[in-house]
Amino acid sequence: MLADLERIEKNALASLEAAKDEASLAEWHVAHLGRSAPLMQVFDQLGQIAKEERPTIGKRANEIKRALEAAEAERAGQLRQAAINQALQAERLDVTMPGRPVQRGRLHPATQILRKISGVFAEMGFQVYRSHDVETDEYNFQLLNFPPHHPAREMQDSFYIAGDYPEDNPLLLRTHTSPGQVRSMREFSATNPQNPPPIRIILPGMCYRYEQITARSEIQFNQVEGLAVGEHITFSDLKGTLTDFARRMYGTHVRTRFRAAHFPFTEPSAEMDVECFVCGGVGCPVCKRVGWLEILGCGMVHPNVLQNGGYDPRRYSGYAFGLGSERISMLTHRIDDIRYYWANDLRFLEQF
Ligand code: FA5
Repeated sequence: MLADLERIEKNALASLEAAKDEASLAEWHVAHLGRSAPLMQVFDQLGQIAKEERPTIGKRANEIKRALEAAEAERAGQLRQAAINQALQAERLDVTMPGRPVQRGRLHPATQILRKISGVFAEMGFQVYRSHDVETDEYNFQLLNFPPHHPAREMQDSFYIAGDYPEDNPLLLRTHTSPGQVRSMREFSATNPQNPPPIRIILPGMCYRYEQITARSEIQFNQVEGLAVGEHITFSDLKGTLTDFARRMYGTHVRTRFRAAHFPFTEPSAEMDVECFVCGGVGCPVCKRVGWLEILGCGMVHPNVLQNGGYDPRRYSGYAFGLGSERISMLTHRIDDIRYYWANDLRFLEQF
């Protein structure tokens, strides 16, 4: 019997070497330590063995069982380590290698300038107000004092939206941000029609004009509208605010000038120029040799427009302005062609 036991152990240990993975180790366990394994049969037969031999056989059988269990545990550890080593070999990772650079996105130059302009006006107490990209003729033109067939409409050729809309009030893509003036005034005045609150807002957003695309003109471009309405607002407030804006944008030394202009929705109206910062006002190709660069249109809100917005022009006054932000960005970065902005050429965009 003792000789049997030695053979059982030898066999078991020898076949353990052949277990090369978890599945074969499990099979080995069933064959050598499972219920019907030869070693377990020895335990079953202990009762039939002569009394004097029983302790020796029993002791040895127990020793072999523990030895096999220990050998199984060791083999399991070896197999686990081998699996890890294999994975490390197969998925070799050199942590000292330089990483692949992650492509980082950045803000589009048109967005950058919008944020800068909004930041400057925010410092001056203006809130940002969003208006509609798709407008009615009424808001885009009529309520801003452009009657039908007014020649100024032709300065802003439009993209009309096809559909079943009234002939006298078609839908179009807004040609400027000024319709937001009436929309915002109506919204503010509706909160307290007898005593409408004062307004100090900017309205940034995309505008669309059906015009020839050139180095200075796109069919879509951003404008930033400004509107201040309240009691006792004067043209001096307009000049002071816009001069301060120019100084905050271009530096305290910058000189500005206002020239008379015409817009149907402001009276009086003006355009503001800043001194050409390329030539310092002497005259160069950028400023077309005049020494000044136009940056915006502005004026005192026309009484009819105040009225349309729910503000009594006998009590309230206000000023408005509208600037083309890509044009301002072009001046800031000395970019000579507006078409770069929407051409999606990374060689251009990556420079900002
Ligand atoms: C207007 O659109 C007026 N609504 C501005 C205004 C607002 C005046 C409030 C008074 C009170 P104008 O058509 O000049 O005005 O356009 C204003 C600015 O938008 C221009 O100075 C220019 O910077 C920009 N702009 C106009 N057309 C284009 C275009 N096709 N491409 C790029 N920028 C343009």
